[in-house]
Parts: sequence; C-alpha cells; structure tokens
Amino acid sequence: MQTTYEFVSSAQGETLAQYRQSRARVSFIMGPIGSGKTIESCQRVFDQICEQAPNKSGVRKSRWIAVRNTYPDLKGTTIKDWRELYDNEEVKLGKFNMDFPPTHSLDFDLEDGTRVVAEVVFLALDRPDSVRKLRGLQVTGFWLNEVKELSKAVVDMCDGRHGRYPDNCSWHGMIGDTNAPDTDHWYYELAEDVKPEGWLFLRQPGGVIETVIGTGHNRKSVWQPNPNAENLNNLPEGYYIRQVQGKKDDWIRVNLGNLYGNVSTGKPIYGGTWNDIRHIAKHPLAPIPRHQTLMLGFDFGRTPACIVGQLMPNGKLRVIEELIATGMGIRKFMDEMVMPALKTRYARFPLSRIQAFGDPAGIAKSGNDENSPIGILVDEYKLNAYPTASNSPERRWEAVNYFLTNDIDGQPAFELSPECKVLRKGFNGGYQFRRINSSGERYTDTADKNSYSHPHDACQYLAQGAQGMVDYAWRDKHDELMQMNQTSGRDRKTGY
Ligand SMILES: Nc1ncnc2c1ncn2[C@@H]1O[C@H](COP(=O)(O)OP(=O)(O)OP(=O)(O)O)[C@@H](O)[C@H]1O
Ligand SMILES: [Mg+2]
Repeated sequence: MQTTYEFVSSAQGETLAQYRQSRARVSFIMGPIGSGKTIESCQRVFDQICEQAPNKSGVRKSRWIAVRNTYPDLKGTTIKDWRELYDNEEVKLGKFNMDFPPTHSLDFDLEDGTRVVAEVVFLALDRPDSVRKLRGLQVTGFWLNEVKELSKAVVDMCDGRHGRYPDNCSWHGMIGDTNAPDTDHWYYELAEDVKPEGWLFLRQPGGVIETVIGTGHNRKSVWQPNPNAENLNNLPEGYYIRQVQGKKDDWIRVNLGNLYGNVSTGKPIYGGTWNDIRHIAKHPLAPIPRHQTLMLGFDFGRTPACIVGQLMPNGKLRVIEELIATGMGIRKFMDEMVMPALKTRYARFPLSRIQAFGDPAGIAKSGNDENSPIGILVDEYKLNAYPTASNSPERRWEAVNYFLTNDIDGQPAFELSPECKVLRKGFNGGYQFRRINSSGERYTDTADKNSYSHPHDACQYLAQGAQGMVDYAWRDKHDELMQMNQTSGRDRKTGY
C-alpha cells in the first residue's frame, strides 16, 4: 500500500518567502542565527526537486549537492535538518545512504501522475582542491549551507558545474544561506559591490536593534528585540535578547543584528551609531535638482577627497557620491575629478547653488591665504567655499553622529548611496581608533590615518556644513584681502 504525504508549510517571514520563491540562477540569504534559513533552504530544494520538468516518460530527474565546509558540520546539522523533514520515522521518500558521500535517493510519485527521481548528495568542501570530489557528478543545483564558511574558489567551482543534469533541465543554479560575513569577505564584495547579473542577495532583518547612548569613548550600546525579525514564531520567547547577555557588541552585531562584521584591528569610530541596514539607500542616490543646494565636503592634502551631498528640506542628509584621489594636489583633483563631475552629473546645479566646506586649518597661511586650498576653490574655481567652524575631531564626529542617530518621520536622517563604497567600509569599521597595545583594550584618541580617513574627514566637513557649523565671516575677510592683493599674476580659471 502506498503512503501519501502532504507537506504544508509557510515561510516564516517576508525575506524567507522571497528566498523560497526565487528562481534566480543564484540566490543567497543572509540572516541572524536561528532565523529559519536552513529549514527554508531544505524546503526550497525539495520544491525544486518536485518542480524539475518531467522527461518524455513523465520522470522528474535532478541531482542536488548540499555543501558544507566540514564533514562534522555536515553530519551534525545539514544532514540532520534535512532528514528531520524528509527522511525520518514518519516520512520515507526513498533510501538514505550514510556511506561516502551521504546520499538521499528520492523516488516518489506526485499527485499529477509524474514521478520524482532525485538525489541529494551531501559533500564537505572545505578546501579548493576538495572540489575534485565533484568529479563525474552531474549536478542540477547546489545548496551552499553557511556560505560564508566556503572559499570563493569552491563557490566558483560549484557555479561552473550545474546545468549538466538532466539534459535540458528546466532550472539549474545555486542557493545558499549564511550569517553575516565581514566587510572584507568575498560575499560582501559580490553582494554589495560587484552585484553579478542573475545573482540575488537577500538580507533578513536583524533579531536585535542597537541604540547608542553617550559619546566618544564613553559610548555604550543598548540592545532591544526587533519586532520585525523573522521566524519568531518558531523560537522561544526572548530568543535573541537573551543571547545579548555576556556577549561582545561585535559578536552581537554580526550574529544577532545581521550586520556585516568589521575588519578593523582597532575600534570603529562610528561603531554603534552607524547601521549598515538602516543607513544604506536601497538604490544609488541621484541629486534632486529641485532642492536648493548641492553640498561638497573637502579633505585637502595629497590624498584629497570630495563628498557630494544634499540636505533635504526635512533635515535629512543624503550622501550621493565620493570622489577620492591619491598623490594629487588640489588643482589636479579639481581639474580631473571634481569639475568634470560637476559639469556632467551635477550640470543642473549652477555654481550659485553649490556650497563647499573644508578644514579651517586650510585657510591661514602666512597672512595671505590666496594659496590655501579653500582660497583656491573660491578664487580659481569660483565655488562658494567656506571653512567649517571647528576642526576638532570630536566636533566633526558629533556632526556626523547627529545625522546618524536622528530620525525624521521614522527614517534615519542620514542616507548613504551604496555607490560610496569607501565611506561605507569606513563606517563599517575601517575608519577607526588604532589599538595602542596589542593585548589590551586601549586605543588612540585620534583617528587612524588610512585610506578611509580622508573621505571620512571630507564627510565630516560636509556634515558640519549641512548643520551650519561654518565660519561664514572668513569669506568677507578673504574677499577684502584679495582686493588688497590685486597683484596676483596667476591665471584665474573659471572652470565653468
Ligand atoms: N517553517 C518552520 N516551521 C517550524 N519551525 C521552523 C521553521 N523554520 C525554522 N524553524 C525552526 O526554527 C529554528 C531555527 O531554524 P534554522 O535552523 O533554519 O535557522 P538558521 O537561520 O539556519 O539558523 P543558524 O544561523 O543558527 O544556522 C529551528 O529550531 C527550526 O526547526
Ligand atoms: Mg542554519
């Protein structure tokens, strides 16, 4: 006598539902621990096994490889979770063979009269050369369990090996689930920078939300449960918030908050106030011409940076673009990067609607400031440029934190375009206080000078400018001085 099974399940959250339904060639889901990713992956593999188009004889053939980095993990969790759903005392859909490699051979009929004949092979691929285990295997789909534990070489190799079985398969590809990786991980590069065509990267809400109280080194993170977390129905009451106890904030951010891990060796300057889920715009930001002003924040020196933003009438600061150079003086930087950008992407903004802000240290030069960087912006490039009121680091961080920590109509007062990749990595920890000794928890009071600090300095001047923390009086003094010194023989570039 035949046994009939009916599998009833519903996705335990919006992102899980998107993951389950996606038929993109590659789809990955990133979430906090316990968010239902692995169970959803099992269900999706099963859906797709049943969905593979039948051949002429009415048989739906496919072969899936479930990949994990190590064999103990494979046995202890991946196989266990799969069998709990599809091979146990109540459910038998074929034979499960625990020999190497562990394989579930499924063979059952569907209600529509077709037959499903499929294999789910469980493989540990911990090293690039372990891919030779795949030799000879014809594969329909890969399920990469805990993607972030796998090397990019393994993932690339898998991606080159699906689609050979069955002939004319109706779908083939890869799916995968993971906890949040660090910002220098290949997953981050692909999900946030490269965004390959046909690859879908989904991100679940965090299980907890961080709020920061205090400033500077006295900052403290306070964690609250996120009511929008997924899979809450299947978790014990207080599952996420209970795990906060006794854990380091960095660990909580990644594993419970679903935030990318930072790779800083020091202490992230915006740790706790920056939130990579809330502050990154969903799409690249474009300037909105109907709003009055375009604002530029400048960091001068041999590694100049210019951050382009707009302050919205409701008080939100939108950061649209980062222009960054190395080994360039201010004039070359203006001629080759800033002015071409203003004339093309920002052509609808006349100079009268552009304001630039920079380091007040960049103005006082031997009583005659015509050679100071801000003076050059004013005199040679005809920009409305001003020094900000203070260049003390605390004041500058405060200016940025003001926008990061304020909400306007339930939305953060700060929005960063995903195109601003260096600023983003800096916010995620690259912009940091350096550790003083290697063992203890002591850090410098000043920001580490690195590739993130220059664009971040520029961003701070932009934030100060947007808050009106500006030395407007300097400009009158400067204009007076310039009139007195009508002697300058240099060509004045209008540039516009
Ligand atoms: N659809 C569902 N119905 C009932 N229980 C579920 C469902 N999905 C997940 N669960 C339960 O929720 C818990 C966590 O699910 P799962 O192991 O899939 O999470 P995960 O996101 O893979 O976690 P981790 O990051 O720790 O691997 C498990 O106990 C699982 O049985
Ligand atoms: Mg899991």
